[in-house]
Order: sequence, then structure tokens, then C-alpha cells
Amino acid sequence: MFLFGLSHSVEVVSFLSKRSSPHFYCRSGMHTVGKLMKVFVTRRIPQEGMKILSAAGVCEVSLWDSEEPVPRTELLKGVQGAQGLLCLLSDKIDTEVLDAAGPNLKVISTLSVGFDHLDLDEIKKRGIRVGYTPDVLTDATAELTVALLLSTARRLPEGVEEVKNGGWSSWKPLWLCGYGLSGSTVGIIGLGRIGMAIAKRLMPFGVKRLLYSGRTAKAYAAEVNGEFVPLDTLLSESDFIIVSCSLTPETQGLCDKAFFSKMKNTAVFVNSSRGAVVNQEDLYQALKNGQIAAAGLDVTTPEPLPTNHPLLTLKNCVVLPHIGSATYSTRGIMSDLAARNLLGGLQGTDMPSELKF
Ligand code: NDP
Ligand code: DGY
Repeated sequence: MFLFGLSHSVEVVSFLSKRSSPHFYCRSGMHTVGKLMKVFVTRRIPQEGMKILSAAGVCEVSLWDSEEPVPRTELLKGVQGAQGLLCLLSDKIDTEVLDAAGPNLKVISTLSVGFDHLDLDEIKKRGIRVGYTPDVLTDATAELTVALLLSTARRLPEGVEEVKNGGWSSWKPLWLCGYGLSGSTVGIIGLGRIGMAIAKRLMPFGVKRLLYSGRTAKAYAAEVNGEFVPLDTLLSESDFIIVSCSLTPETQGLCDKAFFSKMKNTAVFVNSSRGAVVNQEDLYQALKNGQIAAAGLDVTTPEPLPTNHPLLTLKNCVVLPHIGSATYSTRGIMSDLAARNLLGGLQGTDMPSELKF
């Protein structure tokens, strides 16, 4: 059966809307005893998670069966009366959605480690539990961040383009030079799980000093000889600056004109956290005026970044479409974890990764 690619135990009981709509409704019926709990899944997710929900036999799943985000109106409809919601970082879960869901909603499970799209104050007030996906995506995201840093610093997209467009005339001593990690100072803003995994991957490149900033010093930073410094010190002394903090009211817009003006003109800036940490107009000016050397972004505001956005006109800006955790295995494991979080919340048992807030 095509639905979720499953070979067992999913019974489609009806389509909620017309056949052309991506909104499917199904019931995991084989092991069912008693009343099924209603769950809304806001996107097609890797089959690992759908199999778990199906096999559990405790819920009927309504799925927005599309690669594209659920429209807001469909989200508001789909969540009505749900006891469980499995959502993505592109779904803003606020008072309106929680009101639409109604008082039965017990658990929100997000297929992400970031939770800035969830209105936690409102969720807490209503006693709803939250699951998320830390750790399982740390390696993939750190790996992508290092790839982005190297691509940006060594100008790989420009080089690839020159090969294709005939700009490669000969080996030229002054052509397509960039910046290397060996002997450099790296500054990491937010030495959390991902920040630390980035640091561990960068040290073997011959990094001389590893600076980091955040709210508190970390004992584990000793593993990478990390020096906890004030943000201004990090900005003025680093050759590479990587943002890997969470998006909070304090970090929103943190990387602005004043921030970039404190960086070296030869420094490379990389952001793989959330787009809203950066003031993109200020970043554009800093890149255009040579205030900083280059930037690599895996995240932007908005997402997708409009194709006519000024940042995309700059050769010294490399933009990726938010693919930090995008390996097949990582996404499968995230899906598995999000489903188990959801089931824990539905059944009132432990969740493998419950957000404490
Ligand atoms: P962690 O919670 O482990 O780390 C977050 C870090 O942010 C902490 O070290 C924290 O430092 C720091 N931080 C919080 N507030 C501030 C502040 N005001 N100034 C500086 N640092 C601050 O989370 P993860 O490492 O697992 O994930 C980090 C973020 O990466 C996620 O929130 C998500 O937004 C993003 N992400 C992006 C992905 C992508 O695809 N590009 C994939 C996965 C995650 P302290 O402890 O001192 O407060
Ligand atoms: C997250 O998990 O927060 C990422 O942005 C996507 O994996």
C-alpha cells in the first residue's frame, strides 16, 4: 500500500477532504483496544515514525501528506480535537492553534531540536507536554556546518561556477584565494551540543585558539581547549565566527551592524542556528562594503529566501536551504524519535526526549 510505504497494519478509513488534497486520514487498527486517540501529523515524514505510530495501535493519524508545509487554515482544521500533534519547525504553534486544538491536546512533538516556533508560555499554561529531537542530529548538523565553513572560506561555489562558465583560464597565483583554518582563531557563539561537535571537528584542522561565548562557561569546553570570552573579544579576535546558539529573545538580531563592525575584515561568518539571529540587511552591507570577508548561511529569514534577495547577488555569500540535519539516516532517526515522543505524551508515560520548560 502506498500510504506511508507501510506493509502492515494501516487502515485508511476516509479522506478528510477531496482526493486532490494531501490530507489523509488513517487508523492503526490491528492491535486496537478501546478508543483511538486522534493525532495530527503536519507533513509527510520519514516512514520510520509512521511505522511506529501505526504499530502502537493507540491512535488514528491524520496526515498532511505533502512535502510542502500545511497551509495555516488546514493546520487549524487538522488539529481540531487532536490529542497529539506532530509538527515541524515551519509550523508556528501559538494560541490560535492551541485554541483550535481544544482542551484534549496532551502532547506536541516537534521534528526538530529547535523549539522557537512553539509558544512555550501558552503551551505550559495548558499543561501540554513537548517532545523534541536533540542529540540525534548533532553530528549531521556539525558536519554540514564545517562543510559550509570550508565552502565559504575556500570559495568552492565560485570555483565550481568558474569551471563551468569558462572563467578557468590557467593556474593563477592570485586567483580564488581564500582563508584557511590552520593556525586560525575560531569563535563559536553558543557552545551547546552542536557548537561543541563543530569545535571537535575543527580542531584537527590545526586551529590555534577556540573561543566561545554564551550565557555560562562550560566545563566540557576543556576538551577543545575552549576559552570562554565576552562576545566583543570573540568578535575582534576570531578569524571564523560560527553561530550555533538557540533563537531566543536575547539572540534575535544579535548579529547586527555593531556586531559585524567588531569583526576583522578578513573574518568569515557562518550561521547554522536560525536566520532570525542575524540582521540580514546589516549582513548584506557588511559583506558588500568589505567589513567582513564572507558569510555562509544554512538558515535565513524568511525560508525560503526569495530568489531576488540581495544576499544572493553577492559572491562572498554562500546560502544553503536549511539542510543541517539532512542525511537519510538522521532524518529517519528524528522521525522515529518524534513518534516515540508523541506516543509517550499520548499514553502519559516517559518521553525519550521531553523538553523541560
Ligand atoms: P543546545 O541547547 O545544546 O545549544 C544551544 C546553545 O545556545 C547553548 O550553548 C546556549 O548557551 C546558547 N545560547 C543560548 N542563549 C544564548 C545567548 N543569549 N548568547 C549566546 N549563546 C546562547 O542546542 P543544540 O546545539 O542542539 O542546537 C542549537 C540550535 O541549532 C537549535 O536551537 C536550532 O535552532 C539550530 N539547529 C539548526 C539546524 C540546521 O539544520 N541548520 C539543525 C539543528 C539545530 P548557554 O548554555 O550558555 O545558555
Ligand atoms: C532543528 O532540528 O532545529 C533543525 O533546524 C532542523 O533539523
